[in-house]
Amino acid sequence: MRHHFASRLAFVALATLGLASCAQTGMQGHDPSMHAAHMAGAAPGAAPGEDRRQPVRFPAPMREHTLANMRDHLLALQQIQAALAQERFDQAADLAEGQLGMSSLALHGAHEVAPFMPEGMRDAGTAMHRSASRFAVAARDAAALGDLRPALSALAELTATCVACHASYRLE
Ligand code: HEC
Repeated sequence: MRHHFASRLAFVALATLGLASCAQTGMQGHDPSMHAAHMAGAAPGAAPGEDRRQPVRFPAPMREHTLANMRDHLLALQQIQAALAQERFDQAADLAEGQLGMSSLALHGAHEVAPFMPEGMRDAGTAMHRSASRFAVAARDAAALGDLRPALSALAELTATCVACHASYRLE
C-alpha cells in the first residue's frame, strides 16, 4: 500500500512537471497526451475550466450508438492490458485489431457516422484505427522479441489517439 501511494505521488509530481514544462516551451514537445491536456484546459488566455471542445451534432440514435461504441473502446483497452499482463500477446493483438483497428470499421458502423463528422474528427478516428493496427503488430512481435516495451509504447500511442479526439470534440 505504502509503495503504491508513493508511486502515485511520484506520478502526480511528474505529470505536474510535464504540464509546467509544456507551458514553458510553448508546446514544442512531442508527447501527444501533453498536447491534449494543453488543448483541453490549459490554453493561454482561456478561463480555467472553460470547455473549448468543438461541439458536433449527430442524429440522436447515432449519438447513442457512438457513445455505446466508446464504452466498448474502453472495455477493449482494459482487456488488452489484461491480456498483455498475462503475456497473451496474440489475444491482445486480436482484440486491438478486431475492436479498434482497421478491421473494426464495419463493426462500428463507421461509414454511417463519418459524414456527420468534421474532417479533423474523421482524421482523429482514422488515427485511432491505424494506431490500433500498429499496436497489434507490436503485440505479436513482443513474444518473439521477449520485450514488452515496444508494445506498451504502441499502447500508449493508441491511448493518446483517444485523448486527442476527446480534447477537441464533444457531441451535442
Ligand atoms: C474520433 C474521435 C474519438 C476517438 C478517436 C475516441 N473517442 Fe471516445 N468519445 C468521442 C466523443 C466526441 C465523445 C463524447 C464526449 C462528449 O460529448 O462529452 C466520446 C466519449 C467517450 C466515452 C464516454 C461514453 C459515454 O457513455 O458517455 C468513453 C468511455 C470513450 N469515449 C472512450 C474512448 C476510448 C477508450 C477511445 C480510444 C480507444 C476513444 N474513446 C476514442 C470521440 C472519440
